[in-house]
Amino acid sequence: MTGLLVTGSDGQLGRALLVEAAARGLSAEGHDVDTLDIRDPEAVRQMLNWIRPAALVNTAAFTAVDACESQEDEAMAINGTAVGHLAAACDLTGTVLVQISTDYVFSGDADRPYREDDPPAPISAYGRTKLRGEELAAGAKEHLIVRTAWLYGIGGRNFVEAIRRQIEGGAERLRVVDDQRGSPTFAGDLATAILDLLDVGARGIVHGVNAGSTTWYGFAREIVRQLRAEVDVEPVPTGDVPRPARRPRNSVLETRRLTTLLGRPMPEWPDALARYLEATCTS
Ligand SMILES: NC(=O)c1ccc[n+]([C@@H]2O[C@H](COP(=O)([O-])OP(=O)(O)OC[C@H]3O[C@@H](n4cnc5c(N)ncnc54)[C@H](OP(=O)(O)O)[C@@H]3O)[C@@H](O)[C@H]2O)c1
Repeated sequence: MTGLLVTGSDGQLGRALLVEAAARGLSAEGHDVDTLDIRDPEAVRQMLNWIRPAALVNTAAFTAVDACESQEDEAMAINGTAVGHLAAACDLTGTVLVQISTDYVFSGDADRPYREDDPPAPISAYGRTKLRGEELAAGAKEHLIVRTAWLYGIGGRNFVEAIRRQIEGGAERLRVVDDQRGSPTFAGDLATAILDLLDVGARGIVHGVNAGSTTWYGFAREIVRQLRAEVDVEPVPTGDVPRPARRPRNSVLETRRLTTLLGRPMPEWPDALARYLEATCTS
């Protein structure tokens, strides 16, 4: 592959992709909203025409899940409509569009991991806007849609940092939801997988999450354990922590397709967490 364009490049996954591309000696360019607002179709077309990348990975998104409930139009403009601009521009330059999507396109009612071809049925505004993004990305001649979940990356606002902040703030007890299940996913591992998927010419929908699954409570306990912190973690039901947006009960994504395409599974989530903490611990 010669040439990668990353949109939303100041975000968790965008940064990780640029690091991974640099490590591979790939020519890569990143833009966030200040230099390329993906809502602007003319700016998108000009940028693609100027760079003519082999692939565009769109990590730009309105990711504040609760805020999407009251700002669905704004979220749709970024997570949905703008992806159509990217798809149209990619078709003009022969660029592969890689759209990053989410477990939130599913209802979470299934009692097994979700497969790529399971019918989406979002239960939140965020999920609806991301599903629209998938539909528009699928209109690009060459497209790859990578659904991920429970993402955390270096320099980002994420669950690991929220737990770490509470520990450092002197909390003695954390109350964490224990009835939502998913696969915590390190942006560095996902970036590696995305570039490998491009290398093998993957197209269509692929699920990309770290291997294994847990609940938010299980994830919090593992963070506390790996940080060797003296904090109690109490499991609570979702109903005890009311939030504007509904969350899927089951967010576990099946990754058999990715494993077959790459000839290897994704790393296990506790191992990924250890590498993230090693990279981000200051003391
Ligand atoms: N985080 C998760 O748990 C999770 C789970 C499943 C899927 N995903 C998906 O994975 C992808 C990457 O997520 P992430 O956690 O890396 O997101 P992130 O850290 O929130 O980064 C998204 C970036 O996009 C930028 N952006 C927003 N509007 C834009 C626009 N109009 N034009 C260009 N850039 C814009 C944001 O800027 P501002 O910060 O200034 O808004 C931010 O820098 C997203 O597609 C997300 O939907 C995330």
